[in-house]
Amino acid sequence: MPLIPIARRAETLQVSEIVRISERARGLAAQGENVISFGTGEPDFPTPPHVMAAAALAMHQGKTTYPPTAGIPELRAAVCNGHNALGGAPVVPEQVLISNGAKQVLSNAFLATLNEGDEVILPAPFWTSYLDMINVVGGRAVVVACGMSTDFKITPAQLREAITDKTRWLMLNSPSNPCGAMYSAAELSALADVLRDHTGVAVIADEIYQHIAYKDFTTFSSVAPDLADRTLTVNGVSKAYAMTGWRIGWGIGPLPLIKTMTAIQGQATSGACSISQAAAVAALNGPQDLLAERLNSFKERRDLVVNALNATGLLTCPMPDGAFYVFPDCRKTFGKKTPKGAVIEDDAGFCAYLLEAEGVAVVPGRAFGLPGHFRFSYAYSPQSLQEGCRRISRVVAALV
Ligand SMILES: Cc1ncc(COP(=O)(O)O)c(C=O)c1O
Repeated sequence: MPLIPIARRAETLQVSEIVRISERARGLAAQGENVISFGTGEPDFPTPPHVMAAAALAMHQGKTTYPPTAGIPELRAAVCNGHNALGGAPVVPEQVLISNGAKQVLSNAFLATLNEGDEVILPAPFWTSYLDMINVVGGRAVVVACGMSTDFKITPAQLREAITDKTRWLMLNSPSNPCGAMYSAAELSALADVLRDHTGVAVIADEIYQHIAYKDFTTFSSVAPDLADRTLTVNGVSKAYAMTGWRIGWGIGPLPLIKTMTAIQGQATSGACSISQAAAVAALNGPQDLLAERLNSFKERRDLVVNALNATGLLTCPMPDGAFYVFPDCRKTFGKKTPKGAVIEDDAGFCAYLLEAEGVAVVPGRAFGLPGHFRFSYAYSPQSLQEGCRRISRVVAALV
């Protein structure tokens, strides 16, 4: 029994598998092993120079005091304009909440809306944090497995089946972390049709990878403007503008929800960093050509990795439509023996073998609610991707 007892709501929280693997990889590297990690999901580009210049200017102009809790007006307006340009029911800046990353938007939303036992439909594979955020506020994640046969996407039939009178949210993430799946306009429309029959269910559309899309991106709000009162769109600058450390994300939703989320954030952290908000304004209002350049670079890397992994024969790697992850199926390696005589039993065993045998760190699919796969982030240099894929084909070829 610890001296300071831990609250029940926090007891379920564990160190994430992603962090555990990164730490193990760091430990091996510290012992002199040649480790390559494809574990974390952040762009390897620098933050654009004009964005950094805007931050420096903000500092020198004295924009260093508490910002408004819901965000500075310029940023809320820029977010609003960007959202309205995508179609859907028009929003006003008061419907935008700026937070410390998209992560805090999500956490605010669950805190604001979930009572004990309320359900959130979570199509798997899902970003690991959703599950913990739902659990910690006493909600219940209803995990719906969405395998390769439906391109890792929830179908209208699956959605209908999962809805109960306790369902509060459907969690949609397109393009997706960890598998890069992206919903088409028709697919989103079909899901919206189901929601029209269930007025108590709202949607969180986490579109943080909007700008890393190799096909046409559709925002959920544009296919279902009539559901605007029950749609929370989540986005931010982290992935598109290589600004993970600046911690700026936003939620766009109905006024009463945004007001409550703002009140929660006001007591937790106040407004997001004033300097970062000025930087985010420059990112959104400044030149956008870098998005296409970076997208091209990610696409080349995606193709390199998908081709190399499929060439191993035992791994099946679907071609993702967005984000910077692949989510290969490693089930054909199960039951095979490593050169040391150990039998690969599951995705965690395969990932452990990769790390021990060749120093390649990737994350098992079970961390994302869909075992039998692993997540490989390709936001790394082409050289390390090539070397990593060479090592993976060696370890796969060594299995008997
Ligand atoms: C699907 C998804 N949503 C949200 C986030 C959080 O983004 P932010 O850096 O804005 O908190 C991430 C980051 O990995 C993510 O993958």
